[in-house]
Amino acid sequence: MPEMAASSVAAAAVATEQGFEAPRPPRHVAIIMDGNGRWAAERGLPRTEGHRRGVDALRRTVRAAGEMGIRILTIFSFSAENWSRPAAEIRDLMGLLRRFIRNDLAELHGNNVRVRIIGERNGLDPEIRRLLEEAEERTRSNGGLLLVVAFNYGGRQEIARAAQRIAELVAAGKLAVADITADIIGRHLDAPDLPDPDLIIRTSGEQRLSNFLMWQSAYSELVFVPTYWPDFDRSALDIAIAEYWRRERRFGGLVARTLGADRVVSP
Ligand code: FPP
Repeated sequence: MPEMAASSVAAAAVATEQGFEAPRPPRHVAIIMDGNGRWAAERGLPRTEGHRRGVDALRRTVRAAGEMGIRILTIFSFSAENWSRPAAEIRDLMGLLRRFIRNDLAELHGNNVRVRIIGERNGLDPEIRRLLEEAEERTRSNGGLLLVVAFNYGGRQEIARAAQRIAELVAAGKLAVADITADIIGRHLDAPDLPDPDLIIRTSGEQRLSNFLMWQSAYSELVFVPTYWPDFDRSALDIAIAEYWRRERRFGGLVARTLGADRVVSP
């Protein structure tokens, strides 16, 4: 892995001291929380223990993200493909989700965190659906960190849902086929008002997106860290953000738009 700043806080302090504008944290960070099972296996523990420690890492990360000034944190908490896991593991994951919402919602709410859910809700266990929607409802007016929980989520399935919504408009005569643009598709995704993620982090060393935010990731910076998710913490987040700051984002043009200030890149 390339050399990186030890801490974004330290990097910001150095920038300020040297008279530069401190780099801003990415507005929207999305995380594929991977490696719970391997973390547990390496310690001779059941996979459940890895997931349980994964929830602790999630708590730490939500806190750190809020403190760092990240506005939106999207987490891949359960994929549409995760249903193919053994029934006992699915039961454990659902139990952890229930406990996370029941035990942590008050604290999230107290910290001004707003929760939103993306993914397919139809067909979910009614109690899980009620809990997820209660978390959204209760935190609706909060203006702090926006925590987007991707649950029963798949990027391709989300695009298919958008296509269905658009097809309904066309069938009802409200939209012409010729007017279907990338912008229209984006406006029919599960959370159409949110900006695309600036940075997508995947833990555990795997280097793929696994059907996460397929549409929204078109221009995201991808950072893969070797840390297993249960070990992820503020310093791991700092390292990923430092790597993000090293990248130049041109969005297909010639203007780099990282670090807040736009600057022209010589061809
Ligand atoms: C990947 O680890 C992680 C998941 C499938 C789910 C992520 C879940 C948590 C962090 C805990 C639950 C949190 C909530 C809010 C439900 P893996 O099992 O694929 O690890 P492996 O690739 O090492 O087997």
